[in-house]
Amino acid sequence: MTRVLSVASECAPLIKTGGLADVVGALPNAMRDAGVEMRVLLPAYPAVLGQTGSGEIVMEEADLFGGPARVRAVSHSGFELLLIDAPHLYDRPGAIYLGPDGRDWPDNPRRFAALGWMAARIGAEGAGGWHPDVLHCHDCQAGLAPLYLRQRMPHGQRPGTVMTVHNMAFHGLAPPEDLDALRLPRDRFHPDGFEFWDHISTLKAGLVEADRLTTVSPTYARELMTPEFGMGLDGVMRARRAETQGILNGIDTDAWNPATDPEISTYRTVRGKRRAHRELIEEFGLPEGYGPVAVVISRLTEQKGLDLLLDVLPDFLERGGRLALLGSGNADLEQRWREAGDLYAGVSVRIGYDEAQSHRMVAGADAILVPSRFEPCGLTQLYALRYGTIPVVALTGGLADTVIHASPAALTAGVATGVQFWPVSADALLDGLEHLVALHSNPKIWSQMIRNAMRQPVGWNVSAAEYAALYQEIGKPE
Ligand code: ADP
Ligand code: GLC
Repeated sequence: MTRVLSVASECAPLIKTGGLADVVGALPNAMRDAGVEMRVLLPAYPAVLGQTGSGEIVMEEADLFGGPARVRAVSHSGFELLLIDAPHLYDRPGAIYLGPDGRDWPDNPRRFAALGWMAARIGAEGAGGWHPDVLHCHDCQAGLAPLYLRQRMPHGQRPGTVMTVHNMAFHGLAPPEDLDALRLPRDRFHPDGFEFWDHISTLKAGLVEADRLTTVSPTYARELMTPEFGMGLDGVMRARRAETQGILNGIDTDAWNPATDPEISTYRTVRGKRRAHRELIEEFGLPEGYGPVAVVISRLTEQKGLDLLLDVLPDFLERGGRLALLGSGNADLEQRWREAGDLYAGVSVRIGYDEAQSHRMVAGADAILVPSRFEPCGLTQLYALRYGTIPVVALTGGLADTVIHASPAALTAGVATGVQFWPVSADALLDGLEHLVALHSNPKIWSQMIRNAMRQPVGWNVSAAEYAALYQEIGKPE
């Protein structure tokens, strides 16, 4: 059995800001079925310790970037975690990455260097008698682990390393003055190492140092090699093309199951979905109408393209559409969406974060809208498919890989599951919405699409096998 230490800054259901947490939290159980024993290394934020209890101390570090730390082994959600208990770094109010003023914590470079540091130490020494064969590092917060591991152990003896890009937009930047404080080798501070325009980039460190790179969909893997999507690191990605692969995310099909979901009137069929639909219309106070009820569940940021939806909202409503949005993020976008909710009877807006409500929305809607400018994978369209809710998505990243566009050919073959549009512009989005309205008005086509969507496999089976094969290839020799 391959042993893998998964290294990340968030993990559902314990602590989450986005899809990264869902994936990190789903992998250990998915990988067990594929013959991999995975443990998750996570900072012991107060909210996490409150849920897991303090467990057993398996490692101590006298000075973890400015204070003492302990690693605690706990079990939760059916898998094993190692928590870095370092009060000087993690025991504070506020969100994971942001202080109460809404800005990044000024010491984020140290807080997440500490994650990489402890990962490397566990990679080299094991923890509580458990020795990983592979370190699987997620996003920039874990990006320094492969470099620190290399500093500790020669090639051939150390565990293999995988760096997964969930989002290339976050570079993990720190000023060059931090080099010594972060215990980084000055001889690697150059453009072929971890320097990014005179700054330290922990993401780039991971991309340069890890044995293998993955990202969360095959299309995003290709996109990352282009200037349009590479966020300044496309050259690095091109240089590592041979060691890079896209492995599509799955979802937790137990947590997202319309037949058992405790948040809704459960259903198994197209007809059964009607009750959940009525309940959603009531919950959101939407008017009666003839067109599709669409939902959005999203962070409100530039990435998600929801400003474009604001532009075409009147046209969608005019065609009988209605919309319920749940989201939070950028203050300006929150304000614009609140105003749209006040202005249009057919639009209902909830600013906030509400997991239970997101289930009711996915279940009750006719369609989900994901007009992202880029989307490494995207999870909400996968939830939607499972609940027979038709995705309207931009043709990019994982959205391109998970939705079968209702083209004439796909409709004739009876395999369509959604609508894709391109380019990511207001005009093309409106074309997509018009297409949705037309499909929805044809009961035969519409119920066929719902059936197709509900049948599409969105679990982890295929991807877990791909990760297992990858771990096997690079795992530490026995
Ligand atoms: P990203 O990670 O870029 O935010 P994903 O689609 O991969 O995008 O994952 C987003 C996750 O966060 C999904 O599980 C989605 O349901 C959830 N989510 C986003 N915004 C909200 C919200 N306001 N309330 C509840 N869940 C949300
Ligand atoms: C990132 C991406 C999203 C992806 C998620 C999990 O947050 O923005 O597309 O689904 O990570 O991999």
